[in-house]
Amino acid sequence: MPTDLAAYQDRAARLDTADLDFTEFERRPLNDDALRCLRYMHDVENHTVCYLRDLLLTAAHKDPAITSFLTFWNFEEFWHGEAIASVLAAHGENGAERVSAMRHRLGWKDRMGPLAHLTGSALAGESFIAIHMTWGAINEWSTQAGYARLAARAQHPLLSELLHRIMRQEGRHIEFYASEARERLEADPRARRLTRFALKRFWKPVGATVMPSPEVRFLIRYLFEGADGQAMTRRIDRRIDRLPGLRGLALVDSAVKSTAA
Ligand SMILES: [Fe+2]
Ligand SMILES: [Fe+2]
Repeated sequence: MPTDLAAYQDRAARLDTADLDFTEFERRPLNDDALRCLRYMHDVENHTVCYLRDLLLTAAHKDPAITSFLTFWNFEEFWHGEAIASVLAAHGENGAERVSAMRHRLGWKDRMGPLAHLTGSALAGESFIAIHMTWGAINEWSTQAGYARLAARAQHPLLSELLHRIMRQEGRHIEFYASEARERLEADPRARRLTRFALKRFWKPVGATVMPSPEVRFLIRYLFEGADGQAMTRRIDRRIDRLPGLRGLALVDSAVKSTAA
């Protein structure tokens, strides 16, 4: 077993929120913008299992280290969704209804997911895993940055505490995805070429393919416009630059600019 996987498996756990008093939100509710942002994050965290369905159709399922990671990753993302649902519930909103509504709303997009992944995997072969690991690293970097920006913007101590706990787990997802991506890209020139191509051609901000466009635009503007937001997107781009074969893409910065426009 790779050491990064052993370390991750040892620490993977349900997000601990037992000591957090969510009724605090009834006394001091979040503002409308922060709540709108949390609805997006809730829906996307809860969509992880559907994304996993698509991934398991690809070459990723052949590698036991990857499937072990994905098992715990999916479990942890589920509890992130549940924790955010508790925040929404304290504001009188029903998270479970949102999850069901989203899956019904997706329609053909949901049916295209398996086909797109199968096609990508058939074309890329083993290199598909490098694409997937790189994609995962970028999405986890973006997600962690999004939570950090929401904590900074909402200025609510209880929300900040919850988001920082989620961010610590996203940090462990990052460690796994990024180290796998680095190794696989380093070892395989074809994987470097295909990953660079796939990112340039298909990468979109997390949730952009499954959430309604006005919500994507709102979230990107709310979290990533302005000097602090831009510093965050550029930091992610510098991390991508350090992966083998991916220098100079300016992926996140340009995606944020075109989404917000
Ligand atoms: Fe998460
Ligand atoms: Fe994550």
